[in-house]
Amino acid sequence: MKAFLGPVIHSLSASELEILPCALLVVDGKGKIASFIRDLNPQQTHDTLKALNFPQELITIHHLGPGQFLIPGFVDTHNHAPQWAQRGLGQGMHILDWLDAITFPNEARFRDPEYARRIYASCVDGFLRQGVTTASYYGSIHGEATKTLARLCHEKGQRALVGKCNMTRNAPDWYRDRSVEESLRLTEECIAYIKALDPAGSLVKHVLTPRFAISCDAEVLQGLGDIARNNSDLSIQTHFNEAEQEMEATRELFPQFSSEVDLYEHYGLLGERSILAHCCYMTEYELERIKALGCGVAHCPVSNMTVGGGFMAAPVRDFLRRGIKVGLGTDSGGGFSSSILDAMRQAMIASHAREVMSKGQDRGLSIAEVFHLATLGGAEVCSMGDKVGNFEVGKEFDAIVVGTQGDEQGIMTVVEESDSLKTIFEKFIMTGDDRNIVKVYVQGRLVKGQLAEDSKA
Ligand code: GUN
Ligand code: FE
Repeated sequence: MKAFLGPVIHSLSASELEILPCALLVVDGKGKIASFIRDLNPQQTHDTLKALNFPQELITIHHLGPGQFLIPGFVDTHNHAPQWAQRGLGQGMHILDWLDAITFPNEARFRDPEYARRIYASCVDGFLRQGVTTASYYGSIHGEATKTLARLCHEKGQRALVGKCNMTRNAPDWYRDRSVEESLRLTEECIAYIKALDPAGSLVKHVLTPRFAISCDAEVLQGLGDIARNNSDLSIQTHFNEAEQEMEATRELFPQFSSEVDLYEHYGLLGERSILAHCCYMTEYELERIKALGCGVAHCPVSNMTVGGGFMAAPVRDFLRRGIKVGLGTDSGGGFSSSILDAMRQAMIASHAREVMSKGQDRGLSIAEVFHLATLGGAEVCSMGDKVGNFEVGKEFDAIVVGTQGDEQGIMTVVEESDSLKTIFEKFIMTGDDRNIVKVYVQGRLVKGQLAEDSKA
């Protein structure tokens, strides 16, 4: 067992941020939070632990150092693992042009298992280093590469949804599934492989991943909807109302539907486990439907401004007002940054633009709100809100030790002695980077950082 002692910050809800200067978190051998004392008197640590009736000799106490505090791990609700090496390319392009010119040639390279292993290992390591304890990944179309991605997440200890990407049309011959049957067969094989890798789905699960309606024949959408119906534990992810060019092409291919909500619902792809990326352009009808169906939104504020041609801030305040689940996605590589800290900042900027556009009706997002999107909100979108996202007793311990001092790490956040914990937290959110991510835990397992200064109780 481990006990963490020091400042703790986490979200209780979209607007409630809990800031605790001296707390004690006890994590059991299975990585679950066994106890959470919110206001510990440090002089009475031993008495407090004794009163909790845990076997004292089995508890290792981790004292957070000066300037350090504990937050929940970040959740990236929308991420393209095979775009890891193309991050930042083709900025400003419209979505379908960018897919053809930049993305498909790059993703096609994942037919080579060794290339896939090398880039995916770097990708998973890179996200863990930035404190992303949970990621919902789009893979490429390739079955083998997708299995490799799932295996690497499992080995390296990242909580992940991993999806073989389905594409049977509107893509070049050299980068699409050869038939509807092949597309669905490879999906079933990946589902089976991941189930064998992690039978309880405690860390890695498959996510059904029709890239978007444009790239899928109706039979693929129907086939995936059937798989979803028969496997109620599987999440589903797709791109939704991202950009004008994409929406127009969708209308031309599926003239029988008057909205994307009707289209995806018709094929059985919308429900409480659906993760809809972007949702930039939403009618009143679509907002009501996704709320009623319980879908979650992966808000990707960086890529919304860099590729897609949407250049549009999604109506996040409206989502929150209506109680629609929202989290953040880096959408890297369309988003040039794979940092959730960057996504938080860009979500703020985009929301302030939206406030002006709505003449003040859609208030901009606060620090507490963007932090919620990055943690508990993202966990809810990935249907893991009962498992991770904050430090409630019974949840699994996915956490980041944030450091705000320490020259040897080259930390840039400037902290002054008179700063309150709230001020230090705000400085970290607005100016921090991976140098401030000192240690990262998933399910209680250290996945980044050195074990040091630990002492036995
Ligand atoms: N729509 C379909 N595929 C993609 C993708 O890879 N990135 C983004 N941003 N939008 C998409
Ligand atoms: Fe995307």
